[in-house]
Amino acid sequence: MSSSRGGLLVVTGLLGLVAVEAFPGRVSRAADLWCPEAALTDGQLEPVLKRIVEEGPRAWGDTGVPENTPPPWMDKKRMAAGRAFLERYPLASLFGHVHGLYLLFAVRSVLDVLVFTGNSDTPDEAFIRYMDTLKGVGSWYSSDFFTPGTPGYEQLKRVRSLHSLVRKDMADRPQDEVRNKTRIAGSFKGCPMSAALRRDLGRQASTACPRRTAKQDADNDIGEDTGVPGAVWMSQYDMSVTQWAFVGPIIQFPERYGVGNATVEELDGFVHLWEVIGYTLGIDDKFNFCQGGLEPTVRRSREVLSTIVLPGLRAAPPPWEYMARCMADGLGYLLPGVGFETQLASLLSVTLDSPAPAVASQLSAAQRQAVAGYRGVMDSLRRDGDGVLLTPVRRLYKQILPILSTSVPLEDVKRLRHRRPHRSKNCYPEL
Ligand code: HEM
Repeated sequence: MSSSRGGLLVVTGLLGLVAVEAFPGRVSRAADLWCPEAALTDGQLEPVLKRIVEEGPRAWGDTGVPENTPPPWMDKKRMAAGRAFLERYPLASLFGHVHGLYLLFAVRSVLDVLVFTGNSDTPDEAFIRYMDTLKGVGSWYSSDFFTPGTPGYEQLKRVRSLHSLVRKDMADRPQDEVRNKTRIAGSFKGCPMSAALRRDLGRQASTACPRRTAKQDADNDIGEDTGVPGAVWMSQYDMSVTQWAFVGPIIQFPERYGVGNATVEELDGFVHLWEVIGYTLGIDDKFNFCQGGLEPTVRRSREVLSTIVLPGLRAAPPPWEYMARCMADGLGYLLPGVGFETQLASLLSVTLDSPAPAVASQLSAAQRQAVAGYRGVMDSLRRDGDGVLLTPVRRLYKQILPILSTSVPLEDVKRLRHRRPHRSKNCYPEL
């Protein structure tokens, strides 16, 4: 382990010792999280979400709206509030987005596309891919993406055309060939975390939701092909669920991402910013996950997590772990010391407040310290009423991130990326 990694673990570990108090203000009863039926109001999905789930998978994922035309309903004041929120809480957006991506991989129709393109299935590829994602999203947070020439506009054009190339390629090829390419060849070796995850989450669900049937469970199994008949690749459903990945964890659990003092206006602005980003990437208004403001979007977020994402994660197959490890190892170039095990355990025990003994038993002592440190940092930030901690954290973050990203030998990574396919030794396909 490099000295910088060791140093970071010690710092986070010490912070964990200082702040050991568990989070108050837990979102809801465990049953609401782990039992899909209990999460619904009157047994029904929220109406917009119902449409997204029922009609979205068959709807082409891009409306074709021009790139530089703002939606007629855009509200500049709400956009500014959203950007101010992101400026104020950089750690929440970083960790919230990374957690959102792990959770998104549990949606089979999205995971399949990422496997198909093969652009994130080694740590090196994933590093480049997710650095580009962070760059793209960061540019939308910091610049006006409707004005040609701004970084936000250029990124938007790039992402939209990448999406459209992949979407068209997948639609035009013979579907047998596409299906083959959405599978990682070979049988998997290792992958201890997906097995542990299935055990832990299965136990949670059967305790919270004893009357759930095997058939209901199988319907959400991302290990099987349970595709919707007539579904298209990268559909409006997939786009909308991806919007959820960026906003859902943060607005559903703000206090667990250290966002203790955000105002309703700030959170609503964040949701609106993503409503506009979604529109500009081609999401139809009727499938826009963020429509209607903060309150209905929080309800939809809760329902997506409980009825789509967690049941998928509960059946996490080895490819889920493989792709998630590639992302974690790739991001590890940027965030040394924060590996897959630590990130997964933080997501489960801090964000979802879920006991996960099988996952915890896979952690080393240093990894346990890092999780405690993460919990400590988030808890301290949440209680940081006057922003005494937040201001230096924000400054440090702004200074450290560019230094870390330039210290990574990007050119070396690009050169080597095809030669080091399986560095995720704990979970890899045997070719
Ligand atoms: C709100 C929705 C979405 C946002 C904000 C978003 C964001 C991004 C960004 C920033 C990139 C650029 C990364 C790069 O430059 O390499 C990208 C590329 C890409 N995205 Fe999306 N995306 C969304 C939805 C989706 C969905 C639903 C899928 C698949 C089902 C998808 C699949 C891809 C693919 C295949 C690429 C090209 C790079 C690769 O092969 O991995 N995206 N996206």
